[in-house]
Amino acid sequence: MRDAEIVDRVRSDPRSIPGTYLGVDSQTAIQEVTRGGQAAFDEPWNDLSPDDRVLLYAHFFQLGHLEELIEAGRQLFEASRIEAPIVVDLGCGPFTGGLAIASMLGRKTRVDYVGVDRSAAMHRLGERLASEAERSHGMPTLHRRWAADISSIDWNRAPGWRPVIVIASYLLASPTLDAVALVTDLDRLLTRLGRGPVTIFYTNAVGADANRGFPGFRAALRDAGFEVVADDTGEIEISRQSREKPRLFRYALFQRQRQDTLHLG
Ligand SMILES: C[S@@+](CC[C@H](N)C(=O)[O-])C[C@H]1O[C@@H](n2cnc3c(N)ncnc32)[C@H](O)[C@@H]1O
Repeated sequence: MRDAEIVDRVRSDPRSIPGTYLGVDSQTAIQEVTRGGQAAFDEPWNDLSPDDRVLLYAHFFQLGHLEELIEAGRQLFEASRIEAPIVVDLGCGPFTGGLAIASMLGRKTRVDYVGVDRSAAMHRLGERLASEAERSHGMPTLHRRWAADISSIDWNRAPGWRPVIVIASYLLASPTLDAVALVTDLDRLLTRLGRGPVTIFYTNAVGADANRGFPGFRAALRDAGFEVVADDTGEIEISRQSREKPRLFRYALFQRQRQDTLHLG
């Protein structure tokens, strides 16, 4: 699906003359057009539209992020069964966390997926990848909704006990983001969703810059009752379809048990 929906679309575009991707070289695509994933994607860049920018993001970054999330999820799902989760993908990009979750969960389980991203162009590509994966590649149906921020998520069901999986993949490097405020908004959302167990995946590039928001994020999650299950700063080796070299990434996992105790006084 990646070949058909991303790689071939870039290659067959008339602007992609040899050595370029939609008319820009790879360094420009990575550093300027996508700004390593931190661009304001909904603004045009020279002659490239928001949809072009997002397509280049998917071309250069999505596969690596997806492989990391699948590996992180595999380790988690080996240890525990998670049935009928609500998945909240923070800074979802083009449905990256949704694709990872779909590859891990059985076909029968109901999954509600909420993709949160400030970029409408990311939602558009995410929705295209999701419907194509369902239509032609046997991906189980994920009941999807998209939102620009956490407070505008449209969720009208009564709070319940379903497990929630939160994905924060390569979000915290963003200079637009206040990690502590993010946890406050997230906790408010979790209360709207219910009192079931919550698992949070954090993945990012290694290095202090990319993870500058992490200490605040981690401390705020602890204050909100989360336990740090894993916090790996070192090398995590994953087998890659795309390259032979192991990929380095920063990974953390947080969990909060279902909240079934009523604290009085
Ligand atoms: C590096 S990309 C990661 C995308 C996806 N999680 C992945 O791993 O492929 C960061 C994403 O966060 C979004 N983003 C950045 N700041 C944001 C904010 N303040 N609120 C919502 N989304 C934001 C960007 O639009 C972008 O799609």
